[in-house]
Amino acid sequence: MADKYEQVLELAKRRGFLWNSFELYGGTAGFFDYGPLGAMLKRRVENIWRDIFVINEGYYEIEAPTIGIEDIFIASGHVGGFSDPLTECQKCHEDFRADHLVKDIIENPDTLSAEELTDVIGKNNVRCPECGGKLGNVYEFNLMFKTAIGPGGKRTGYLRPETAQGMFVDFPRLVKFYRDHLPFGATQIGKAYRNEISPRQGVIRLREFTQAEAEIFIDPRDKTHPKFKEVADISMNLYSQDGQVSGKTTKMSLGDAVKNGIIAHEFLAYCLAMTHQFLVRVGVSPEKLRFRQHMKDEMAHYAADCWDAEILSDRFGWVEVVGIADRTDFDLKAHAKQSEKELSVYVSYDTPRKVQKFVVKPDMGVLGPMFKGKAGKVANALKALKPDELSGDVIEVTVDGEKINIDKKSVKFETVTEEIHGENIIPHVIEPSFGIDRITYSLLEHSYFEEETKEKVDDEEEENEGKRIVLRLPPEVAPVQAAVLPLLSRDELRKPGNEIVSKLRKAGILVAFDDSGTIGRRYRRNDEIGTPYSITVDYQTLEDGTVTIRERDTMKQVRTPIVDIEKKVYDLIYRGKSFDDAGKGI
Ligand code: ATP
Ligand code: GLY
Repeated sequence: MADKYEQVLELAKRRGFLWNSFELYGGTAGFFDYGPLGAMLKRRVENIWRDIFVINEGYYEIEAPTIGIEDIFIASGHVGGFSDPLTECQKCHEDFRADHLVKDIIENPDTLSAEELTDVIGKNNVRCPECGGKLGNVYEFNLMFKTAIGPGGKRTGYLRPETAQGMFVDFPRLVKFYRDHLPFGATQIGKAYRNEISPRQGVIRLREFTQAEAEIFIDPRDKTHPKFKEVADISMNLYSQDGQVSGKTTKMSLGDAVKNGIIAHEFLAYCLAMTHQFLVRVGVSPEKLRFRQHMKDEMAHYAADCWDAEILSDRFGWVEVVGIADRTDFDLKAHAKQSEKELSVYVSYDTPRKVQKFVVKPDMGVLGPMFKGKAGKVANALKALKPDELSGDVIEVTVDGEKINIDKKSVKFETVTEEIHGENIIPHVIEPSFGIDRITYSLLEHSYFEEETKEKVDDEEEENEGKRIVLRLPPEVAPVQAAVLPLLSRDELRKPGNEIVSKLRKAGILVAFDDSGTIGRRYRRNDEIGTPYSITVDYQTLEDGTVTIRERDTMKQVRTPIVDIEKKVYDLIYRGKSFDDAGKGI
């Protein structure tokens, strides 16, 4: 029997959600097209993400190129270290992730070097999973797609492996945009590319995929969040470092998790809350959602704490769909070094602070005649000295590469009190990074049901009788939001049907008009693409101006006047109005 993945993909392909890319030419692993319904579903998921991160949190969206120059990825560490260990079968020439092949033999294989993995494979006689052939030496394979910018291949470029770097590179502009006020954030929804080694997990591991990322720049001295109180009572499944040692997931409030030091700080916990809110709103089952903390040896060396949102999938088990990390000041420091520009933000103090400052005052009356045109440079060199460099009777400075000795008597020193109003700091970065494709697939899987029903379909084939496939997508994400179905394909019913269609369209609702086949079959067609509401026009409509609205999940129907039908449907989709109320007022 087909497993859930196969069932979902069969429906997804048949009804225009997901198609293998380049199918006409035989296809290539790691690429999927979104068909008409899939593209709309994905767009709605992205728009809910925008609603939460851009509109509600105020982290404006930017759009940077998907190709980056080499400097960016040298700074980010991707040129040097964004690789997976690869081994090739010497017989059938298939490539494999070496760490995946030995995961049942050794713990944490992703921490081993290529040589160590070659050793483990050799000693344990690990063979090719496809043909049993001997495996070759393991080597590190960089996952970035490399390209050349301009003719002649003079300048190296890379397709970005994450959207994040665009926000780091634009940091100096963003600081100005947000008028030096921390915390601030920038977001980006766009394509990322990774040349994954032999992706065998279908939609889960793609070579071109969509990320939605927020880079939130915060003051490192204050990792509290002004709205944390609003989310402190939210409980979620936490699979902490200790929990993973004992194999236990704990349902815990975010307030307690921060208080007990399980989540490093409020800001990170607030991001977990936003992630939970988003995933549940788009249709992920809360009981199939957990937050797993990275183990110490798994965490990137610069990360202060990191949590993955993982979704339970029938075939693939727990799948990471979001990574939420405190990346500290690693990225800004790395780009500052690579670009040789200062990447910091000036923060003002609430009240000015008094500081003692050591000041060197060269005597220009002496230095002027002595050094003539160079006197200014000598004076500046003296001013830059630290107290411990001024201890002897003769002070040495270097000007234009030349060492110059100066009698201490020509220099005065004093300590002055200065009032300072602020300082330059390097912000820390909190990054929630969402994989939109994995999320879109997960919500298709979580909303897919095959169920028995008493609802009649007149001309149903015998084996399908009393069964229906239904996608219980939240109305807000369903690609087609309403179907208008004249009971019979007759002009007198089509006319009011078309009037309803245009009213709904004017209200921004994506509506399908379907008058072919029996009404029961049309309900089924809409159930399996997740259309939440079907509006049926019948002969009573012509008499009293009412229609029925059928709700997909309960299959209940209410009769309601056509007047304001667009408002009623809109309220059902976007305002969480109850279906039973939709029929009131007849
Ligand atoms: P994995 O361990 O599964 O390869 P990752 O740890 O490399 O994932 P990140 O680098 O943290 O993933 O990327 C952030 C998010 O981008 C992930 O949570 C995931 O949803 C998504 N993502 C990463 N790689 C892929 C891919 N090859 N296909 C689809 N989505 C991906
Ligand atoms: N920006 C996080 C990641 O893609 O790895």
